[in-house]
Amino acid sequence: MSENFYITTPIYYVNDKPHIGHAYTTILADVLSRYQRSLGRDTFFLTGTDEHGQKVEKAAQKRNVEPLAHCDETVVRFQELWKRLGITNDFFIRTTFDFHKEVVRKILQELYDRGEIYRAEYTGWYCVGCERFFTEKDLVEGKCPDCGREVSAIQESNYFFRMSKYRDWLVDYIQTHPDFILPAFRANETLGFLRQELGDLCISRPKSRLAWGIELPFDTDYVCYVWFDALINYISGVGYLQNDTEFARRWPASCHLIGKDILTTHSVYWPTMLKAIGLPMPKTIFAHGWWLTGNAKMSKSAGNVVDPMAMIDRAGVDAFRYFLLSEMSPGSDANFSEESFISRYNSDLANDLGNLLSRVSKMILRSGGVVPQNVELTDIDSELLKTAKDAVSVMADNLAQYKPDQGINAAMGVVRAGNRYLEKCAPWQLAKSGDTARLNAVLYCAAEALRHVAVLLEPVMPEKMAELAKVLGYENGFICTIAELAEKESDLAGRKVSDTAALFPRIIVEEEKAAEPKAEKKQKKQEKAEKAPEAVELITIDDFFKTKLKTAKIVAAERVPDAKKLLKLQLEVGSEQRQIVSGIAESYTPEELIGKTIVIVSNLQKATIRGVESSGMLLAAGKGDKIRLVTLDGDIPSGVDVG
Ligand code: ME8
Ligand code: MG
Repeated sequence: MSENFYITTPIYYVNDKPHIGHAYTTILADVLSRYQRSLGRDTFFLTGTDEHGQKVEKAAQKRNVEPLAHCDETVVRFQELWKRLGITNDFFIRTTFDFHKEVVRKILQELYDRGEIYRAEYTGWYCVGCERFFTEKDLVEGKCPDCGREVSAIQESNYFFRMSKYRDWLVDYIQTHPDFILPAFRANETLGFLRQELGDLCISRPKSRLAWGIELPFDTDYVCYVWFDALINYISGVGYLQNDTEFARRWPASCHLIGKDILTTHSVYWPTMLKAIGLPMPKTIFAHGWWLTGNAKMSKSAGNVVDPMAMIDRAGVDAFRYFLLSEMSPGSDANFSEESFISRYNSDLANDLGNLLSRVSKMILRSGGVVPQNVELTDIDSELLKTAKDAVSVMADNLAQYKPDQGINAAMGVVRAGNRYLEKCAPWQLAKSGDTARLNAVLYCAAEALRHVAVLLEPVMPEKMAELAKVLGYENGFICTIAELAEKESDLAGRKVSDTAALFPRIIVEEEKAAEPKAEKKQKKQEKAEKAPEAVELITIDDFFKTKLKTAKIVAAERVPDAKKLLKLQLEVGSEQRQIVSGIAESYTPEELIGKTIVIVSNLQKATIRGVESSGMLLAAGKGDKIRLVTLDGDIPSGVDVG
């Protein structure tokens, strides 16, 4: 089998407005293509639109325009979205292209001549929405078993493809080719479907009922069934019956990427068609799950679609690509909500990745502006570098198995390890104490972790990772490929780091949510005040000493995702290390807190604030919006009793 890589998406119904579901399949195909290209494989990525059939004909009639004119107008919605999303397809096929229609006609004629297509009376049911025929027993409560819409009874003379005769062959093929239909449970689903009797496939429509289609070459009263026409795009799009060299270079496809809604057409109709035509099978048909909104499949007919453009406007193209690919495990369904999108953006990208980059670049700029060279590594350094190296094969393996979410997870694991490493090694302290050798080693390793992340996430976030590469001193935005990351020595040391604006600026979530608990709190406070005795209650000295106050030094600080007011502080309290969450984010930036010695209540019960553990409380005074920390008048070490 050739080392070429040929991947396809479904050709989408031109009539629909692209939504997140269409965007997902196309972005996934794009990420896989970018990765395969980077491995040096001769890659071809095909997408396009499905333009014939009753839906288009009806929509055009309603607007009083020719069907093709209608398609010309609507196809632009897909083409523009793919451009905006940075999709690197090699060709965009439309089933109304002459060359495609010609290939379909040739195939029809050939199959007819060979007796693979015959004429017979047909009675059954038809769903216009799905463009599918169903038998009486397929229907669920008299409605379409796929979309639940009304079906129409049909009785007419039609042409049929002898699909049924390939059933046993197909069952055997699926059983002996474990990579043919993935995930594996989708292969079982197909086998389950094949356990029932498989009928022949009606591949024609009388023109009296539908004129918008490819005319049958052997009977001009009929047009071709839209699915029979559409599936052929996968071969007509790469030169079948037009350019033998090109076709031999591409076919068989490495992967038809589809959603689980069109599994049967791809795993039963298409293989039997190919078999009859005499072509080899695609290596893999991969069916991913659905994006849901409010637990229902996102679809135009359900009226619950999310417009990708609106999401891109909110957070940028790369963040949108990142979210879709990291949130969905392709085997299962995933739920889309704007809140989860913003929340993941803020925690993964703005907070974890953005902070790591800004900390590392700022500290390197402060200590000479060049990634340190010839550093001596200790165990903790080697551990971080190993985490980064290990993520390379995890990403590669998972991309090869259509699990980009797991690969992304490994890359984000490097980011989080990088942040923990900085907190442990505290380079800001090393800078203060003048330990340049150690400081250099820490800055080098943290930057090296970032270099790995930039390369690993490049197929997912090409623009942002190019920016990251530039900050690390790779002027043209390119570091190396994922494969080279494992094979080549690092060329990072000695590079000139540049300053950066936030790579992923935080998205501020609406005020209302933050304000609501505040109003509640105020009311509670008032109620309490009403009940409280008039005089201030006095306490004894023993009461006071129940509160153990101690000095503590802030060694690291960062924002708590999605909490405007909260900072997470790492404190050194004598020999002890502890974490406190405090509502001072509107009065202090994390950076200005580092190094301050403050006073904390050290014997407070642990609490979890917004999912983050807090052990203790710091002392501060606040008036209006302004909060100031209680600090010490002079140099005192941390961990000392206050009282
Ligand atoms: O079926 N979640 O076109 P189509 C995930 N023209 N993916 C989704 C989705 C969702 N909620 N909604 C749509 C057709 N998709 C035919 C295909 S191919 C020869 C002909 C994606 O416009 C997913 O890839 O209805 C699904 O299979 C495809 O869009 C269906 O697009
Ligand atoms: Mg559909």
